[in-house]
Formats: sequence, structure tokens, C-alpha cells
Amino acid sequence: SVSKLRTRIYEANREAARFFYAKLTSKEGAEGLAYLRNRGLADSTIRHFGLGFAPDERFALGNHLRSRGFTENEMIAANLVFKSRSGNSVLDRFYNRVMFPIIDVRGNVIAFGGRIMTDQKPKYLNTSDTLVFNKSYNLFSLNNAKNSKNDALILCEGYMDVISLNQAGFTNAVATLGTALTADQAALMKRYCKEVIICYDADEAGQKATARAIDILRRAGLVVKVISIPDGKDPDEFIRRHGDKGHAAFQNVLDNSGNDMEYRMQKLKSRYDLNNPQDKLNYLNEGVKLLCELDNPMERDIYASRLSDETDVSKASILEQVKQGMRRKERYRRKNEFSQLQKDISARDD
Ligand code: UTP
Ligand code: MN
Ligand code: MN
Ligand code: MN
Ligand code: MN
Repeated sequence: SVSKLRTRIYEANREAARFFYAKLTSKEGAEGLAYLRNRGLADSTIRHFGLGFAPDERFALGNHLRSRGFTENEMIAANLVFKSRSGNSVLDRFYNRVMFPIIDVRGNVIAFGGRIMTDQKPKYLNTSDTLVFNKSYNLFSLNNAKNSKNDALILCEGYMDVISLNQAGFTNAVATLGTALTADQAALMKRYCKEVIICYDADEAGQKATARAIDILRRAGLVVKVISIPDGKDPDEFIRRHGDKGHAAFQNVLDNSGNDMEYRMQKLKSRYDLNNPQDKLNYLNEGVKLLCELDNPMERDIYASRLSDETDVSKASILEQVKQGMRRKERYRRKNEFSQLQKDISARDD
């Protein structure tokens, strides 16, 4: 039955995680262990996250799981092996990679990410969706973060970011699993916290993803803050660069993080030259658009004051524009609602 198979997948994954961990700490895994230590991970961190090594062979895990009583069907359903082209054998999905088990909030091993140790592609190979795993519904290390006393979660891009943050004492870090943040993941976070601090990579892709994540998290009813990593590409590199002062350095960044509106206004402002009147007007118009998205009048007031200070344009005229913009949005919403209603009615008539 499906429920029996699900149980077997959990069991196969747990056995696979044990196998990978044993390999990492054996002679075969020396390269993997050196790789992780080289990236600054303490052995206690490696153990805490159950990191492992998939040997450079195509039958290692399959043979091991078979010896432990798992059928090919179960191993394939877990996405740990796949049928060879000839159909005569099954091959390991993961080989010659450092392994990151993905564990859900109930403590089940639901999937793996595997990193290649060179600069070949793909850099990370992840478990495809299975009966027990959907990458859009889960977050890496939420099992650890949910026990953190902190009321906020730190949302990162990658496994290594989360692990480095944990090692530096920030156990409330989680990461998406190689996809853009989804509404389901936001809802999942909402169960464990009130506030999410986005801490994506400093590159262009990371900043684009930040803008999208802000919307999704706000819509889920979360308080949103944004961290911009000042030097270095991602949180992992930032912490490593600061060596044994990693904790203090990142805490300092956290203390200086702004909320999502401050982040958006700062980003916006950096695109305009406020000494140029046309630029200033464009900045104001775009700024007003941001204010129109705020439901809370006090919040609108705070940022209208800021816009006014920055541009020397009266707060009254800024708020007047916001009022007009909001009315326009409301008319637009009603119109859409009405045409949807008309569509529904004519659908019913069909
Ligand atoms: P990054 O490329 O920023 O990875 O992708 P990273 O965590 O900084 O990797 P290191 O530091 O070079 O080891 C962020 C995340 O996107 C997913 C992984 O979850 C990764 O942690 N990803 C990335 C993939 O799933 N596949 C890839 O090929 C690359
Ligand atoms: Mn990245
Ligand atoms: Mn990285
Ligand atoms: Mn990165
Ligand atoms: Mn990287």
C-alpha cells in the first residue's frame, strides 16, 4: 500500500543517511571529510547535521540497502537509485558527492542534497520529488530552527549558509531547497515564527529573489526584515571571512537589518539622482507606489515622512498622491471582481 511504501522510504532514507555518514568517517570518505573541514566545519557540526559522503561507485548504496532488506522498488521510490538503461541493474543516484540529509520537523529523513567537490555541474544534486518529499513544501534545517528560542527565522539560499550560521550560534536559520520561496513554505514558517529575516546572496539573483520573497512572506502575514551582506557573497562566506569573530560580525549585521520597506526604499533610492528634478519626481512616484501597498496607515505615515525628508516635498502632497493611488487600485480591484463575477455567472449559464 501507499502508506507502507511511504514508511519504507523513510526507513531507506534513514539507512542511507547512516551509510553516507559512516563513509564520510571511513577511509573512502577522506576526500569528503577534508572538503568539509576545509570549508570551516567542525566535526561536531558535521555530526550535528549528519553530513555524509557518497562514494565514487555506482552500486555502493544500492548493494548496502539490498543487504538490509530493501527492495529495488523501495529504493527507486525513495529516488536513491534508478534503473539502468538496459533495465538489468539499478544505479546509485548519488556518487562522489558530499551529502546533506534533509530532515522534516518530525525528524524523518525525507531527502538529500549532494554537493560535488569540484566546480563541475550540477553543483548540488537533490532528491527529486517522492511520496515523502516535495521541495516546495519543505525547508532545510527547520527541524533545528523550530527549537530555537528566537521568535524570528533567518531565511537563506543554501545548505552551507544554514550550517555556517548554526556553527556560529544562529540556530534559527533555514533555507529553501534550490527553488524560489513558495507560499506553502511561507505558511510553514508562519507556524513557527512571527518574523522572517531574509538573508539571500548579495548577487543580482539573490536580490531579485529577495524582492519576490518579501511579497510572499508579507502575504503570509509575517513581519519581514532584510539583511544585506556587506562584504562577501553569501552568509557562509561572510561568517568564514570573520573567522572566530563570525558570531559578533553577523550579530552586528542582524542588528543593523532594516524591515522590508526600508530595504525597498533604499534600493529604489539608489537608482535616482535626487539633485536632478526629473529623477526626484520619478523617485517620488515610485515611492508612492510602494506606500500604496501598505495597509497600515501608521506605516504609510512613517514612510511618507521619510520620502518627504529625502526630497523636500511636503508630506501632505505625498500622502495626497498615496490616497489617489489607493483609490485607483481599489477601483481596479472592484472592476476585476465584477468581471470575474460576470464570468462566473455566464459559466453557470453554460
Ligand atoms: P548557491 O549556488 O548560492 O550555493 O545556491 P551555495 O549554498 O552558496 O553553495 P556553495 O557555498 O558553493 O557550496 C544556493 C542553493 O541552491 C541550491 C542548493 O540548495 C544551494 O544550497 N542549488 C544550487 C541546487 O539545488 N543546485 C545547484 O546546482 C546549485
Ligand atoms: Mn546564489
Ligand atoms: Mn556559498
Ligand atoms: Mn550562495
Ligand atoms: Mn556559491
